[in-house]
Amino acid sequence: MGDDLTQTDVLPQVPDSSVSIRETFDIESDATVAAFAVRTELVPALDPGYFFDPATTMAILSGFSANLRVLVQGPHGTGKTSHIEQVAARLNWPCVRINLDSHISRIDLIGKDAIVLRDGLQVTEYREGLLPWSYQRPVALVFDEYDAGRPDVMFVIQRVLEAEGRLTILDQNRVMRPHPSFRLFATANTIGLGDMTGLYHGTQQLNQAQLDRWNVTVRLDYLNEEDEVAMVSAKAPWMKGDDRLRNMVRMAGMTRTGFRAGDVSTVMSSRTVLSWAENTRQFGDLDFGFRTAFLNRCDEGEREIFIEYYQRCFGRELSSSPDGAWSKRRSAAPRSQSTTE
Ligand SMILES: Nc1ncnc2c1ncn2[C@@H]1O[C@H](COP(=O)(O)OP(=O)(O)OP(=O)(O)O)[C@@H](O)[C@H]1O
Ligand SMILES: [Mg+2]
Repeated sequence: MGDDLTQTDVLPQVPDSSVSIRETFDIESDATVAAFAVRTELVPALDPGYFFDPATTMAILSGFSANLRVLVQGPHGTGKTSHIEQVAARLNWPCVRINLDSHISRIDLIGKDAIVLRDGLQVTEYREGLLPWSYQRPVALVFDEYDAGRPDVMFVIQRVLEAEGRLTILDQNRVMRPHPSFRLFATANTIGLGDMTGLYHGTQQLNQAQLDRWNVTVRLDYLNEEDEVAMVSAKAPWMKGDDRLRNMVRMAGMTRTGFRAGDVSTVMSSRTVLSWAENTRQFGDLDFGFRTAFLNRCDEGEREIFIEYYQRCFGRELSSSPDGAWSKRRSAAPRSQSTTE
């Protein structure tokens, strides 16, 4: 484990401060939640304009304050991961995120014996994985893409899902207790019944006994139009007050409706809308921003449908040039060939 992570050992082990839910998260509630006074290295970076969905935020807060296991489920790019991180950022709670893609194995999580040099001698030493490491520290562990985890990994996680659970490391003959400030969260695109939509390749069916161990499951959907416009305005201030922004969000909404109706197979997430705003600034061209953020990765057979949605939202055709507003300088002399190539 790197030295940067061990810094948490010398820090307060339990929350020593509190924050107001109303002031910090802009949610109507008189309650306060326990937090750490000091910001440490593992605390996620603060995104000041973050837009908190009330239900999701309250669910995540219950995870921190009451030590409940919280699973956030929803379509891609709705803000599942960032909601957990941004709550942690405001509570100064150290956070470790593990992406449970198909490459993560049981050994990666638990740890393994490694051969190390000690005083010139080769010795076998147990190297702790991220799970036991976090489990014994004031850390919120986030399993991202929980529904993509391999079955061997899922069974390891099952053991720590209970708040009073113990983690037994058989290879080490050790039984660990959770640190009082250890917290566990997960995000998933599907709800463990497999993927019916074809959108989420690599997701697995989850064991019902395991799903049952999550105390709080909350669904985070795409924001409504008003909130999404406010969210993008906060994150992409150059679009604030720009009439085109509402149409961009409307366009995203149409892809989501079209997807539910089975007309298209690609959905424009909030993340895509943000990329569109970013690309529009980058290239100085809304249409090229749209192509590069979204259209170019859509199925060719469906592009006409998206172009039609575009026409309906903006009241004009998408510019027909896929190369944006640029053209090649014709007068320039051909570049000389490099002799080293
Ligand atoms: N409510 C929000 N306020 C501000 N930014 C947001 C919000 N929701 C999403 N974003 C931004 O959108 C992007 C995608 O969010 P995030 O990665 O949290 O989505 P996700 O639901 O975890 O996606 P995936 O299912 O693909 O993992 C991030 O850049 C995030 O900052
Ligand atoms: Mg995520």
